[in-house]
Amino acid sequence: MNDKELVAYQAARLVEDGMLVGLGTGSTANYFIEELARRKSEEGLEVSTVSSSVISAIKAQSLGLPLVAMEHVSRLDLYVDGADEVTPDMTLLKGRGSDLVREKLLARAADRFIVLVDQSKLVSRIGEKFPIPIEVVPFAWQLAKRTLESLGGRGGLRQNASKDGLAVTSHGSLVLDMVFDSSIDSQALNGMLNATPGVVEHGIFQGLAAAVFVAQDGRVEERWNGK
Ligand code: A5P
Repeated sequence: MNDKELVAYQAARLVEDGMLVGLGTGSTANYFIEELARRKSEEGLEVSTVSSSVISAIKAQSLGLPLVAMEHVSRLDLYVDGADEVTPDMTLLKGRGSDLVREKLLARAADRFIVLVDQSKLVSRIGEKFPIPIEVVPFAWQLAKRTLESLGGRGGLRQNASKDGLAVTSHGSLVLDMVFDSSIDSQALNGMLNATPGVVEHGIFQGLAAAVFVAQDGRVEERWNGK
């Protein structure tokens, strides 16, 4: 079992009969979906799921997990997802995929949001390894970019995978990938991005994780918020 599988397996043990569980997006979340499906078929686990992305919904459906559409959900028991960066105070950077809006909605609505990472995702500050993904209303991208530049941001619109057009999120937004000065802390940046007109959502997840499960060399360390 590799580190990502290990941490996903441990998180899947938190799922109990009758739970509504949010499914994340990415390679680690995929292992969690697979383990959940295995528990359903082999152990008879009764679980419903809501997906953070079309790709995870397709995977869950193909493995026989019952899916509920997000518009029918007002809360959920557990949301399990990966992250791109995690700081010591459990602030996250997410959004290398294209599903930030759904991901943050599920993180907020869940009684417990569990984040699965390996050691490579641990950073001392948000933005250390990746630019901040910022979803913007398409017609507002230049206005939003200018505001972000006035706050010290540098960057531009994300291109699609084949580099022949722009990336469009599942919400229909464009994405500005912006780098900010390391002197701006993530709390201040979070507030600035929340207050920028035209920004639909952004990749800083602050105060949302109940726990981060960190895998390294075949072992999992559970870091629970407030413990
Ligand atoms: C998706 O938008 C991201 O927030 C993912 O959670 C992140 O990219 C983690 O992916 P891996 O589990 O593949 O590292």
